[in-house]
Amino acid sequence: MTLYRIAPSILSADFARLGQEVTDVIASGADWIHFDVMDNHYVPNLTIGPLVCEAIRPLTQAPIDVHLMVKPVDRIIPDFAKAGANIITFHPEASEHIDRSLSLIRESGCKAGLVFNPATSLSFMDHVMDKLDIVLLMSVNPGFGGQKFIPETLNKLRLARSIIDAYEEKTGRKIVLEVDGGVKVDNIAEIARAGADTFVAGSAVFGAASDRDPHRYDRVITALRAELKAG
Ligand code: DX5
Ligand code: ZN
Repeated sequence: MTLYRIAPSILSADFARLGQEVTDVIASGADWIHFDVMDNHYVPNLTIGPLVCEAIRPLTQAPIDVHLMVKPVDRIIPDFAKAGANIITFHPEASEHIDRSLSLIRESGCKAGLVFNPATSLSFMDHVMDKLDIVLLMSVNPGFGGQKFIPETLNKLRLARSIIDAYEEKTGRKIVLEVDGGVKVDNIAEIARAGADTFVAGSAVFGAASDRDPHRYDRVITALRAELKAG
């Protein structure tokens, strides 16, 4: 049986109350905290860095999944590792030396992964499979929350799933297949059927409640899981 994970993206959280948002979304059943790092250079938006990662680290035991949308990537990797990141992923276009960046993440003590933009070829993983713990497919163009899921991602997920499964069969080593962008209650089952096992959801989770009940995200996370179970 596939182990599914829900990774709410705090990009859509209330930044004025970020610590409480992290605590509440974990209390509501989230598996990972997805942490979007943007530099106004690789993507046209600017968000949060290692200081914020360090600030939320004591609030949860859950893995912090750092998605780097920055260029270059190597300088900042050790800073995130020191700030308590568990997983660090980056876009192949943003590193001059992909193999070196992946190694650097692991040497820093974190799980390493590549992120593929909608139009980026999966061939970037061909010669670094042994250095990948996670593959993240973007189902929107990176930079903003609240965008619409790009349907072609389903074909790309099926291809990534077949590559990862063939690798697992050969080596016995598992690689996580995560999807990021436009994941909602009404499409998560279809996305899972295409092969994803880990689901980033920003606006779907943090947009789901307006009150301050600490379990206000229960309903949407439960609905996402119910879809996964049914589908
Ligand atoms: C987009 C980010 C996503 C974003 C997803 O560049 O990488 O993680 O927060 O947000 P939703 O789920 O609203 O598409
Ligand atoms: Zn992301």
